[in-house]
Amino acid sequence: MSESTIESSLPEKRLFHPRAEFSQNAHIKSLEEYKSIYDRAKADPEQFWAELAEQELHWFQKWDKVLDWQPPFAKWFVGGKINISYNCLDRHLQTWRKNKAALIWEGEPGDSRTLTYAQLHREVCQMANLLKQLGVQKGDRVGIYMPMIPEAAIAMLACARIGATHTVVFGGFSAEALKDRLVDAQARLVITADGGWRKDAIVPLKQQVDKALADGGATSVENVLVVRRTGQDIDMLPGRDRWWHELQHTISADCAAEPMDSEDMLFILYTSGTTGKPKGVVHTTAGYNLYSHITTKWIFDIQDTDVYWCTADIGWITGHSYAVYGPLSNGATTLMYEGAPRASNPGCMWDVIEKHGVNIFYTAPTAIRSFIKMGDHLPKARNLSSLRLLGTVGEPINPEAWMWYYRVIGGERCPIVDTWWQTETGGIMITPLPGAIPTKPGSATLPFPGIIADVVNLEGDSVETNEGGYLAVKYPWPGMMRNVYGDPERFRRTYWEHIPPKDGQYIYFAGDGARRDEDGYYWVMGRVDDVMNVAGHRIGTMEIESALVSHQAVAEAAVVGKPDEIKGQEIVAFVTLKNSYDASEELKKELKQHVVQEIGALARPGEIFFTDALPKTRSGKIIRRFLRFHAAGQELTGDTSTLEDRGVLDKLREGEG
Ligand code: PRX
Repeated sequence: MSESTIESSLPEKRLFHPRAEFSQNAHIKSLEEYKSIYDRAKADPEQFWAELAEQELHWFQKWDKVLDWQPPFAKWFVGGKINISYNCLDRHLQTWRKNKAALIWEGEPGDSRTLTYAQLHREVCQMANLLKQLGVQKGDRVGIYMPMIPEAAIAMLACARIGATHTVVFGGFSAEALKDRLVDAQARLVITADGGWRKDAIVPLKQQVDKALADGGATSVENVLVVRRTGQDIDMLPGRDRWWHELQHTISADCAAEPMDSEDMLFILYTSGTTGKPKGVVHTTAGYNLYSHITTKWIFDIQDTDVYWCTADIGWITGHSYAVYGPLSNGATTLMYEGAPRASNPGCMWDVIEKHGVNIFYTAPTAIRSFIKMGDHLPKARNLSSLRLLGTVGEPINPEAWMWYYRVIGGERCPIVDTWWQTETGGIMITPLPGAIPTKPGSATLPFPGIIADVVNLEGDSVETNEGGYLAVKYPWPGMMRNVYGDPERFRRTYWEHIPPKDGQYIYFAGDGARRDEDGYYWVMGRVDDVMNVAGHRIGTMEIESALVSHQAVAEAAVVGKPDEIKGQEIVAFVTLKNSYDASEELKKELKQHVVQEIGALARPGEIFFTDALPKTRSGKIIRRFLRFHAAGQELTGDTSTLEDRGVLDKLREGEG
């Protein structure tokens, strides 16, 4: 655990009650209703989840046992048979939703497509059949490295349909990072595209896949399925690579969904931790289906006429749960946008809302802060009156950004759901229910029904009201991660041993600091470990340090986050060079580029300081706290007695080493 301290911030007093017009039509209509559901779920969680599973999902076969909890390993709906692709598609075809828009897609250059449930089902079946033809079997892993185009969702649903486990890798990751993930997952096939549009440029995805597979890279990969998106020339390796558009029309659209065991692995999603390579977070079928479904329904208050837009890329958990599985399982219309605000159209997000009459909009604080910076004139020039609910996720939202979102985007009409959760939790854990729970700017408010959250100290005892502590969960929930892929010990160590079990009860350690106020509202204060949150992307300091040290000039590196107005945190690296290398501006550039190559642009250090030595404890552990102060340009406060050589700090202060 890190040495960072958890500080309480000033209490925020503003309170926004749900408007009566909103509450009347909401799924959960009042605080009393929320409380009664919450209490019922707490009294008998298994009964609560079982009822929802029965009401909300289609099962090929009902489960025998709701929960088998052998801490820290949980199994939900044991013995049940289910398919999430069936729940997202087939069951809606039997209703009026058959010809409802399932997916509205808007491409960056201005092209767009709408797929009804029937059309989406057809394409998913075709891709599923093609995967089978290419030798993919139930239980195999498939890598997905795609731009934000409909085929990205189609690929996920096609895997789920035949029982292949997908592992989506964000298109911003480098070939090297892609390779690591494909190797760890032992993927058999990769689905990609020639390229994707981002900020007026083409991201050369297929080229990166070629690099990842070159020279004995990810050798388990036998085939690459390529979707044509941008149309530029790319290399196609005969026998390995195949074009989707050439094969799609030769393939039957008849593909029954495979009845999966509840606990069959649905996907692996890699996420940064404090040590080693990113870990493969494992999610399974039934529990994840139920949890992403019911959280979408109650938190986004999805109604049948809504157009719902979650801006997250499918490379992240938010894209999985709230752009694809959650909304489609509910039979909602989900909007997918390929682009991002860019010089040629900084107001593009508001154009999309106006053009498609978006009702629900879910994005990240870093995006909101960049919208603020771009200016009110952009949203004000568009008609945003279709919006009725706003959401935020990914990092703590500062009350000023919350107020701007509320006033300028929501027209003081839309509730804001500030949703706290993680890749590991599968779905939202702490959040307002918009028709029921009054909101305070900057607070994620209260736990979702069935979630037994707490703020504890390292002994597992609840801390006092308004006292800082560690955010924890004290009872399993259906959407929880089941394991670290291939590394159960890491799973146990990372999440279940920081806080020892108390009276036999296991406690999930989230890695975030929090406090709870006198109304029981949660205020999440950010990571308490060496995981950074840079522009809404989670990245471990250790990963960047390893990337730096893999450069021939670097002897040692330490990375910290520095507060940044837009990105939340900016990456700052302290580097000591090997004797034969001299510090120079060129070398700084080269090192930054090296990190981009090893991980991706999202990990590029904003600043690099060369230094003769790093501050360390007597046992040789780098003291990042001192570096954080230095990076932020603050005077060092606190105890320096653990430091081995105080001269190091003076040298850092002298600066650029
Ligand atoms: O620190 C918390 C922050 O994001 C972390 C999880 O990151 P990731 O697994 O990438 O998932 C992001 C999207 C779910 C958490 O440990 N975080 C997420 N949402 C919030 C948040 N911090 C404060 N408030 C939130 N609403």
